[in-house]
Amino acid sequence: MLTPILVLIFVTLSSSKDVNTFSNYEIIKQTRIEANFNIDFTNKVIHGKVKSYFTALKDGEVIVLDSRALSIKSIIDSDTGEELEYVLDTQYQLDANGVPLKIYKEFSKGDNIAILINYDTTDGGSAVQFLDKEQTTGKLYPFMFTQCESILCRELLPSQDTPAVKITTSMGLTVPKPLFALDSGIYQSKIDNGESTTYFYEQKIPIPSYLIALAAGAIEERVISDRSKVYGEKELVDLAAEEFNGIENFIQIAESYISPYVWGEYNLLVLPSSFPFGGMENPTLTFVTPSIIAGDKSLANVVAHEISHSWSGNLVTMDNWSDFWLNEGFTMFIQRKIMEKTDDLDLAKLDAMVMYNTLVDDIKRFGESKSFSSLRPNLLGRHADDAFSEVPYEKGFNFLYFLENIIQKENNTTDVFRKILRQYFAKYSYMSIKYEDFRDFFIDTVKKEFDEATSQKILDQIDWVKWIEAPGYPPVNNDFSNKYAVEVKEDVDKFYKNELPDNFKDIFNAWHTLLKQFFLNNIKDTDKELDDTQLNLLSKTLNLKEGYNAEVNFGYFMVVLLHGKALDDEFKTACVNFLGKFGRLKYLRPIYRSLYTRDKDLALNTFNKWKGSYHPIAVRLIELDFKSLE
Ligand code: BES
Ligand code: ZN
Repeated sequence: MLTPILVLIFVTLSSSKDVNTFSNYEIIKQTRIEANFNIDFTNKVIHGKVKSYFTALKDGEVIVLDSRALSIKSIIDSDTGEELEYVLDTQYQLDANGVPLKIYKEFSKGDNIAILINYDTTDGGSAVQFLDKEQTTGKLYPFMFTQCESILCRELLPSQDTPAVKITTSMGLTVPKPLFALDSGIYQSKIDNGESTTYFYEQKIPIPSYLIALAAGAIEERVISDRSKVYGEKELVDLAAEEFNGIENFIQIAESYISPYVWGEYNLLVLPSSFPFGGMENPTLTFVTPSIIAGDKSLANVVAHEISHSWSGNLVTMDNWSDFWLNEGFTMFIQRKIMEKTDDLDLAKLDAMVMYNTLVDDIKRFGESKSFSSLRPNLLGRHADDAFSEVPYEKGFNFLYFLENIIQKENNTTDVFRKILRQYFAKYSYMSIKYEDFRDFFIDTVKKEFDEATSQKILDQIDWVKWIEAPGYPPVNNDFSNKYAVEVKEDVDKFYKNELPDNFKDIFNAWHTLLKQFFLNNIKDTDKELDDTQLNLLSKTLNLKEGYNAEVNFGYFMVVLLHGKALDDEFKTACVNFLGKFGRLKYLRPIYRSLYTRDKDLALNTFNKWKGSYHPIAVRLIELDFKSLE
């Protein structure tokens, strides 16, 4: 028998509320925002007027919203026109989650309430990045974009900043002429105000706050299919439209794997190089880094990834940041299903193999027994971004791959797992769910799909606690062996014996980017120090340090940082230049971490040199990495 105290503890743990929000969303729930954003490039501020709609789930006397680095001017009850009293609880000023905004307003269960908040963003936040014209590709006009995932929406507008809450949005974005403004909704209309233009957008499907996104600049568009456009500065929009003309194909593959695409349009915005991620799945408007324009479509898998989020993440959403793998692990799984069709099964397996290495690196870095290496990291008192790593992506992917496998073993087809996934999306679309919802759903569905003995046999193989709650490596080693890995490994062996054929350069250049990455990763993950012949092959013969493909450059820099005897001047210059070329964290963090251990001064000087061009999110995380290496 459980004692009452134990029962109490168990209940509080399993009803895990989002610990990264101050909002009282369990008492009163936000349902919609109607916002007017005046984007002021001169002062690098957004002047916001946001009307929020709420439905009360219980009686109460205060609405608590998330906010950080916002300057609130007034809060008005939209129904009565009355000014409402509010307080920014500054004792939380230094908290990772910002400051609770308490608005005093009585309500009873069932009430519908609307309030209007008038405020400005400030430069203390990192959700909004204003770029001077020199920091853009065209260098003639300034640019602005937001990044709300994970918990930065509260730095753009006061909100219930939790993925547990979904809202519809209506936006008016005012920008000086001749700039164009975009948001994560469907374009409606525009008004000419003389000196400025206001663009109107609607998102009628409820979305979590982290998917709100704005961008403005000298942006042009290219139509690539009935439902897709590519947006970007004119200097790169044509290149981008060519590079990503496979979008419609990606969408159709995902649709036939799961269900029809519900968001209407799927557009892509190529951002200036400071964009800190590869891609961001803002609904109807994926944001991507220009670093994936490789010229040969070999990095378009980032787009396949963001398209996959149109189901996992944007329709079925994690309820809180500890369940982030429900977004990213599922998305990796669908992304590789797309890859199986656009390329082949062996290449998708090679991708899983390459990324498994990065997962191992991250688990080692966090520590095998540390919460951040589990699929349920403890985020209490932490910023949700601090736990960011390959763990939710690749350990999450490995778990789903494992589930697909044990089901496939029973009847030799992957169709049954697909059927289960389709039912999962049908059941939980438009909702926010916890890991337990997925687990219980999976168990129930397996029991329905198979006879008792078979379902028991399947379920007995799943150690849910080890996979999800325990820290460390995946408890099962999936087999990703594939023909490409065999081929590349032979050449890795020859590389160490200095026995590569004279035409290796041609062989290497003809490889898909992933094979090149795999080749470099194999070298990176050994303990061997490289001799001059080997280093020369990489830097001189293959010339991997510049003008190439960002993934390949990155792989090369990591190999030399980890295994080169000394860092020569040529290498240092190339590395410093690369660190100034793209603000993508996937490259910056590992390179800065390794450089810091090899040559601390060079790392710090380079960081100071480029810091002004990096996104504030990047600056924060790189500084955090330096600190943890002290
Ligand atoms: N949603 C993420 C980006 C993100 C995660 C932003 C957490 C902020 C906080 C996006 O879908 C993503 O995973 N991008 C990857 C793409 C890759 C896995 C193909 C990236 O940026 O590298
Ligand atoms: Zn993702």
